[in-house]
Amino acid sequence: MNTLIKSLVGLGLGAALTLTAGTAMAEGSGCGTFTNAEGVEEHLACSTAPIDFTNKGSLQNGAKIFMNYCAGCHSAKYVRHSRIAQDLEIPPELVEKYLMVTTDQIGDHITAEIDPEIQASWFGAAPPDLSLETRLRGDDWVYTYLLSFYEDPSRPWGANNLVLANAAMPHVLHNMQEELSQEEFESEVGDLVNFMAWMGEPARHDRQVIGFFVILFLLVLLIPVYLLNKEFWKDVK
Ligand code: HEC
Repeated sequence: MNTLIKSLVGLGLGAALTLTAGTAMAEGSGCGTFTNAEGVEEHLACSTAPIDFTNKGSLQNGAKIFMNYCAGCHSAKYVRHSRIAQDLEIPPELVEKYLMVTTDQIGDHITAEIDPEIQASWFGAAPPDLSLETRLRGDDWVYTYLLSFYEDPSRPWGANNLVLANAAMPHVLHNMQEELSQEEFESEVGDLVNFMAWMGEPARHDRQVIGFFVILFLLVLLIPVYLLNKEFWKDVK
């Protein structure tokens, strides 16, 4: 065998190993630990967020939930309303009517209704900007976090969180959780996190599709390269 093929195989293997290690690391960090009723410390595994950027219905529903339940406190300062209209295929009139809760200009970014600095004095922590939240914590972390609020009378807002112990954020989806079955609630939160993942990287789906074809192209290219290489060296050896 020749060096070219060896190094190509080596490269591919290296890339595959790095990717697997990356995923394993992200999973290994988990979604926090908590003490159960018996006082034993338990490890909380992350639930898998149903991310699918081709599901426009899910993204649209997620946008609706985000603007109605989250934008009161959190900004998403890298996301423009007009981009939501364009990418999520929502007519701009509908975005203006139903999704622009904090501004009247469709070109504006999503700002929080209440100044986060003022909120810091109410909650003890300022609600962070959520544009890149799924990139920072991972889709699954955010999904699990939103599903892990529980009643805790010792906390100022009567709720605590398994993933982020003593979270300063109130359980804002409490009413929704009460009204829906567990399955329906998970599906709503899934849509919300799908939308948040889109906010974090709107081009993610396109990138994955292009990446697939690039790898495919390289694999197909390998065949003529291998044959050529054989041809070049056949008289030398
Ligand atoms: C009443 C105000 C308020 C609302 C409404 C609200 N949050 Fe929060 N949120 C907060 C505060 C305050 C924090 C900071 C928590 C902390 O650091 O303990 C926070 C933290 C978070 C975090 C964790 C950030 C991190 O990385 O530590 C996420 C994720 C989050 N919010 C998502 C949401 C989503 C999604 C919604 C809408 C369903 C929402 N929040 C609605 C106040 C709010």
